[in-house]
Amino acid sequence: MSKFVINGGNKLVGEIDISCAKNSLLTILAGCILSEGEIVLHKYPSYTDTECMCNILKHLGAKIKKEGEVLVVDSSSLNSFDIPTELACLVRSSIFALGAIIGKFKKAKVAYPGGCEIGARPIDIHLSGLRQLGVKITERHGYIYCDGKDMHSATIMLDFPSVGATENLIMASVLTKGETVIYNCAKEPEIVDLQEFLNLLGAKISGAGTEKIVINGVAKLGGGEFTPIRDRIVAGTYMIACAMCGGDISLNGANPEHLQSVITKLNKTACQIEASCDKIRVKSDGKPLSLKKIETSVYPGIPTDLQAQLLALQCVSNGSCMIIENLFESRFKHVPELIKMGADIHLRDRVAFVRGVPKLFGAEVFGMDLRGTASLILAGLCAEGYSVVNNARHIDRGYNRIERELSSLGADIKRVD
Ligand code: EPZ
Repeated sequence: MSKFVINGGNKLVGEIDISCAKNSLLTILAGCILSEGEIVLHKYPSYTDTECMCNILKHLGAKIKKEGEVLVVDSSSLNSFDIPTELACLVRSSIFALGAIIGKFKKAKVAYPGGCEIGARPIDIHLSGLRQLGVKITERHGYIYCDGKDMHSATIMLDFPSVGATENLIMASVLTKGETVIYNCAKEPEIVDLQEFLNLLGAKISGAGTEKIVINGVAKLGGGEFTPIRDRIVAGTYMIACAMCGGDISLNGANPEHLQSVITKLNKTACQIEASCDKIRVKSDGKPLSLKKIETSVYPGIPTDLQAQLLALQCVSNGSCMIIENLFESRFKHVPELIKMGADIHLRDRVAFVRGVPKLFGAEVFGMDLRGTASLILAGLCAEGYSVVNNARHIDRGYNRIERELSSLGADIKRVD
């Protein structure tokens, strides 16, 4: 079980090229199922979650080859419509494949998804939308059986702007005759990226990034070449790392428009942030000010995927902060671990009350999920002495060799297998 050994206290100086977005790649890989042609994805990184999605595509019969940072996917010979438990349980995004499979084959048998254990993560909004598209659904023995022979276009109102449900229903509608309208959609940049990708293949989708998305069904999708957007959560993680450790870093490829809410917050913690269309520079003295209150919400609000990292930042601020997690009911597993490092945090339901301390102290801690593990690494980078962050497998789901990227900025961090 690999882990990270960190000797805290170094400032971060230098620049990093931000990888493509995990949460864009995962839905785009599901979207490949809909295509009859060859798809070339550029700047493809090696996240373990995307490798799991590739294994699902291979199980369905797709041909996949990876040459350096280029991934080539050929779904023309897809010959299966089922995703077994052993593949589905590894990632949340396996449920995104359901929409694509049912959209293409008009039938599907998919096991329940997995993913970070940050809450119950139900799929009721996904299934309700598919039923409104005429899909007959039976849930039995841990599988979701779908019959889509009577599928039709529809007007769908989501109970909540769920990212995955929005993506799933777009994909289920792309090859369904007629005009489907989805209201109360999620507006994340990764959904806009999915629209751009599918339209490149011949789909007719508009409205992504707003609460209303319109899909006009087409007969089939071809192939094409595409470069996904960069990962705003990875970029935000490194911005927060600099705010905590001090230094001067540049994040090449990062799109400040995707991080406006975070940039606004970090500017209030005495960071100086310079943003251009494809680069974000952060300068900090490593003495962050208290933010008083941080509340996660759907895009374009403060992303829940940066809650743990912002909480770690506030642990070393000059005052108190209330952090409210509105998206997931069990996304504070990093708190007991941060307390082991000397943080002053009190939890009550979905609220963390943080009182900043002058410094954290190195300790042995345990990552419990992807973004929580990131927050423990950030804490280790600015703590006094050595830290060991166990369960590196969590971080590899969504960061491309984080120890290499942080070391290139001057951090003293090593992976120990
Ligand atoms: C996506 O998860 C991301 N994952 C998550 O990133 C991210 O935290 C989340 O969106 C919110 O932005 C991927 O894109 C692979 P949701 P998703 O459906 O689609 C409730 C990371 O660290 N809900 O928008 O699962 C749900 O319980 C991961 O990269 C229902 O009630 O999130 C939650 O409270 C973690 N019923 C809220 O909606 C449903 O059918 C938001 O979930 C679906 C969701």
